[in-house]
Amino acid sequence: MVEKKTEGTEVSEAEVAVHWKEEGYYHPPRDFIAQANMTDESIYKRFSLENFPDCFKEYADLLSWDQYWHTTLDTSDAPCFKWFVGGKINASYNCIDRHLAKYRNKAAIIFVPEPEDADPVSITYQDLYVRVNEFAALLRDFVGLKAGDRVTIHMPMVTELPVSMLACARLGVIHSVVFGGFSGQACGDRVADSKSHVIITMDGYYRNGQLLDHKQKAEEAIKIAEKGGQKVDKVLIWQRHPGKYSSETKLVEGRDFIVNDLLKKYVGKRVDPVPMPAEGILFLMYTSGTTGKPKAAQHSIGGYLTYVTGTSKYVQDIHPEDVYWCMADIGWITGHSYIVYGPLALAATSVIYEGVPTYPDAGRPWRIAQRLNVNIFHTAPTAIRGLRKLGPDEPAKYNYRFKHMTTVGEPIEPEVWKWYYKSVGKEKAVIVDTWWQTENGGFLCSTMPAIHPMKPGSAGPGVPGIHPVIFDEDGKELPLGSNKAGNVCIRNPWPGMFQTIWGDRARYVSTYFAKYNKKKDSKDWRDWPYMAGDAAMLAADGYFRILGRVDDVINVAGHRLGTKELESCCLVVPEVAEAAVVPRNDELKGKIPDVYVALKPGVKPSKEIEEAVKKAIEENIGKFARPKDVYIVPDMPKTRSGKIMRRVLATLSNRSDKVGDVTTLMNPEVVEVIKKMVLER
Ligand code: WTA
Repeated sequence: MVEKKTEGTEVSEAEVAVHWKEEGYYHPPRDFIAQANMTDESIYKRFSLENFPDCFKEYADLLSWDQYWHTTLDTSDAPCFKWFVGGKINASYNCIDRHLAKYRNKAAIIFVPEPEDADPVSITYQDLYVRVNEFAALLRDFVGLKAGDRVTIHMPMVTELPVSMLACARLGVIHSVVFGGFSGQACGDRVADSKSHVIITMDGYYRNGQLLDHKQKAEEAIKIAEKGGQKVDKVLIWQRHPGKYSSETKLVEGRDFIVNDLLKKYVGKRVDPVPMPAEGILFLMYTSGTTGKPKAAQHSIGGYLTYVTGTSKYVQDIHPEDVYWCMADIGWITGHSYIVYGPLALAATSVIYEGVPTYPDAGRPWRIAQRLNVNIFHTAPTAIRGLRKLGPDEPAKYNYRFKHMTTVGEPIEPEVWKWYYKSVGKEKAVIVDTWWQTENGGFLCSTMPAIHPMKPGSAGPGVPGIHPVIFDEDGKELPLGSNKAGNVCIRNPWPGMFQTIWGDRARYVSTYFAKYNKKKDSKDWRDWPYMAGDAAMLAADGYFRILGRVDDVINVAGHRLGTKELESCCLVVPEVAEAAVVPRNDELKGKIPDVYVALKPGVKPSKEIEEAVKKAIEENIGKFARPKDVYIVPDMPKTRSGKIMRRVLATLSNRSDKVGDVTTLMNPEVVEVIKKMVLER
């Protein structure tokens, strides 16, 4: 963290990480290089700043355009950049129709249900074409949706999710997919913010051996959305088991519709893909920021698809022959870019797994890999840690062979990286550690798998066309190998970059650009470096090591949660007067929220209040955000100006003594009390 050191209490991730030693290199295997899509180092020259922005034509030409663009990059509304202006394109056409001639009968998607006694289901490109067309016809003719409308999709990991997304894309309808694990309330907030009239959901799905009732969340979502001023007219419900309704929730006449029934009327229907302006909106993806209100990254059609296709081809090394499995959830950006849009644009076979990686045991992913002959594998450090802990020797028992593996979402500890490399990859797979964010559409830093050696714990240099830089607090560039952490920024815009925060341009500018922009009215992209909000270090070899967030965002098992949004959930509990949420290091999840609350005068601390706080977080955000501990403290440690010193609490939560000098606090004595409380847990 690049905070000022005045308070002497920083538990900065930067500092923790600076103690990591430099790791040695691992070289990509020869047989990987022999088949790789990109082995030519001169790509970095072609994508140098000198050739910016036209270099991205190389990626755009991987797509089929209805109409070619006249302006590669329009900066007239900087920093809201427009790519490929004048171009017309359809994302659904690019992910499906154009592959039919060659790959009609090849699997586009292989769905793996969580119950292991159910066989995987392959969906060919022809099947996908039929299903997307019929559902698009339903959306257009039954629901009345048209280009530019927003639809909220709150679904689990099933084939019907990409079918729904691609049907929207076919019509130019903007989808806003909300992670299925989010609560009804969280979904409702997003329905209201995006002004969706329609929710697409599913009755139930399997998770950890249980068939969960998912439709019930829609009820809550609708109530919350209405409170937020948005009425939902229609709920479209897919059946997890077609022909059977697997939810306890009653259907509301005139509002709720079973998709599987409605579709009977659309058998054989075809919908022409709507040629959309390249700078039209493909989707919204909500993410957490420093204030309580979630914000939606608004992603374009042409630029986004260009960028995910290019990076899927060269960084993920996807060929149409590959069986590619990304274990992320489609409800997060990784799933959008690297399960759905990128792989399908390249005519790959993309695996969708419904359930928990360790269900029923830690051998499950390797059995899936063996059964489907997966050769590209993509997951997050939190899953790798979990699999390593529960079944360190499991991968050796199965006969699969990965050529390529990805890690994404949080920094990976070198020890965990090495297990991934040796045990999961059997020392035969190349690894890419890809650093990027919801806002970015696709990768920012990574090694190029057949070009660079890997270095455990380091993402690598900027990918082609991405020019990262580290600035100190004053905007001075930190040189290569300075061994200092700073704010990682990208000097230039790129096609996958979000266009703005949906409905909040001012927040877009202030969050990502204001700090290092020197000329507010500049139309020159050079004046608008993008600030990612992560601390990073740049080693002498040009590899970036990402150290973690500099803002109030906690990365829990690769899920971004805003401190403020968690804190405001705690205040829903009537007895709570003040709340502070801090990140606590966790062996498996990377970070988990620890919660400190102070009660209203006269209220006695109790286990019930602690439980109520945990429940409030589960209900408002989702079970995945449940805090480990809730501490009821007599008072929050505060500065003299009354600011809660979260860093003191974070230090204590992480069982460190180094709270530093607290004598300048308004209430230094409370620190000892809280310390004792924490140590006694
Ligand atoms: C973190 C996920 C270290 C980072 C694609 C970033 C990483 C946040 C890495 C974005 C990585 C992502 N190494 N940290 N390879 N990848 N991060 O928006 O802090 O869910 O800002 O996007 O995750 O999370 P988001």
